Amino acid sequence: MKNKIILSVLILLTLLIITGCNNKTQNTNSNNSDSSTSSSEMKKSSNSIVLYFSATGTTKSIAQRIAKQLNSDIIEIIPKEKYKSEDLNYNDDCRANREQNDSKARPEIENAIDITKYDTIYLGYPIWWGTNPKIILTLLDTYDFTEKTIIPFCTSGSTEITNSVNELRKYNSNLTIKDGRRFSSSDSDEVIKEFIDNNES
Ligand SMILES: Cc1cc2nc3c(=O)[nH]c(=O)nc-3n(C[C@H](O)[C@H](O)[C@H](O)COP(=O)(O)O)c2cc1C
Repeated sequence: MKNKIILSVLILLTLLIITGCNNKTQNTNSNNSDSSTSSSEMKKSSNSIVLYFSATGTTKSIAQRIAKQLNSDIIEIIPKEKYKSEDLNYNDDCRANREQNDSKARPEIENAIDITKYDTIYLGYPIWWGTNPKIILTLLDTYDFTEKTIIPFCTSGSTEITNSVNELRKYNSNLTIKDGRRFSSSDSDEVIKEFIDNNES
């Protein structure tokens, strides 16, 4: 009789241990499903791309930092005729000034840019005379952005991005262009993260 009681207690204990293990396994599995959610979020990021034009490297650096946090592809918009420092001397009658003053100027892009597989385009440029450089209009003329969401970002001495975004919207009213944001090179990774979080949700 005593043996039977000991055996029953042992069976009960074994059952309790097995049930505990199962619960643990379920918890681990639900953790796994959490990590699969975050990997699907990673996939979402791979649907975005960073495109940027940068004449002197400031916008390039911000573009690279955005792409790094997004874990996305990045493509530079390369002008066929590179901008030398004398082309950017805005106190003079330089090439950049002449282009900005010419409504028909569309500086050629050297590289082919494939945006077909992306839904979201982070589009970066420096501010030139209060707006986007004309090569950005060449980009919009050359590729079909109608099914995409464009998220502009810029760098500048101090000018905000608002005017350039309004002009881009006016240039092609079929496009979906978000408000975007101006960055300065001293902006922290936290500022970049906030920008991405606001636009990816
Ligand atoms: C032709 C030209 C015009 C510019 N116009 C402005 C302007 O209107 N407002 C401003 O804040 N900065 C202006 N800038 C400064 C640039 O926007 C700034 O230096 C920018 O960060 C350069 O970016 P990048 O290095 O990617 O080319 C101008 C620069 C150039 C070359």
